[in-house]
Amino acid sequence: MKEIIINNLSYKYSLAENKALNNISLEIEKGDFIGVIGPNKAGKSTFCKSLVGLIPHFYKGEFEGEILIDDLNTLNSSIAEISLKVGLVFQDPFNQISGAKLSVYDELAFGLENNGVEREEMITRIDKYLDLMDLNEVKDNNPFELSGGQMQRLAIASIMALKPDVFVLDEPTSQLDPQGTEEVFKAVSRLREENLTVILVSQKLNKLADYANKILFLNQGGIVAYDDTAAVFSRNDLEQMGMGVPIYTEIARELELKNEKDQYPIRNSELKEMLVAKYGKNIGK
Ligand SMILES: Nc1ncnc2c1ncn2[C@@H]1O[C@H](COP(=O)(O)OP(=O)(O)OP(=O)(O)O)[C@@H](O)[C@H]1O
Ligand SMILES: [Mg+2]
Repeated sequence: MKEIIINNLSYKYSLAENKALNNISLEIEKGDFIGVIGPNKAGKSTFCKSLVGLIPHFYKGEFEGEILIDDLNTLNSSIAEISLKVGLVFQDPFNQISGAKLSVYDELAFGLENNGVEREEMITRIDKYLDLMDLNEVKDNNPFELSGGQMQRLAIASIMALKPDVFVLDEPTSQLDPQGTEEVFKAVSRLREENLTVILVSQKLNKLADYANKILFLNQGGIVAYDDTAAVFSRNDLEQMGMGVPIYTEIARELELKNEKDQYPIRNSELKEMLVAKYGKNIGK
């Protein structure tokens, strides 16, 4: 089932010379986990802002084309209406916490109260997302005294408790250490069990290789590739376009190890299997 349909989307910020997005057309299936990659200024954040309606309702530039999310056209809907369907998490968890509440629990309740969720339902949802985001141990702590990974998981829980169908995350782990990054990716992938559609911008290709089922590669506002993760990371021209490749893919390339689909493996487990099949279990001994 299609969740999002984008037709000929272009956008130019006011006063900008060039379009930040240029004729983007694509479809996203319900339950997909899309990893968005691309060099600086590729248009990744602009794409996220478009999905949540900040473009064109907050940023008043030149908007062309359309974004359909189920039966909602973002051009004809308010940011408030769109935010019921699409949640957004930014780079910096610090800026996403209200600052009005002294505990993680109350912070979660705050967002739900503001959205008029009834008390019993509120408690059910808070318990659920504290659990899912692994925040039970810190539920009485001050949100600003959490680790970066915990704070970002709180930001995610606050958005998820509002039950969006689509979840957009713009470089949510760029300020986190490897452990915090892994925590956030794990937490987000757990959400997929609810058939949530996830769109996540990240430069962490090894992590995207593990978690995303599709990759959208943007450059200069246009689509370079939009395909299954293995198909995109298996391309030989990624470096030429300013992107790296996942570490396991790089090793496989070096050793010219391709699978039956004529693609390089993208994950640790797959590469290991192929190495053992080719060189035997005693490789390196
Ligand atoms: N508020 C703005 N006003 C004018 N131009 C902008 C604005 N925000 C972004 N741009 C321009 O739009 C283009 C796309 O920027 P965008 O932030 O979407 O890229 P990005 O892929 O997210 O980059 P990064 O990797 O640096 O986060 C860039 O040329 C940028 O300078
Ligand atoms: Mg950006």
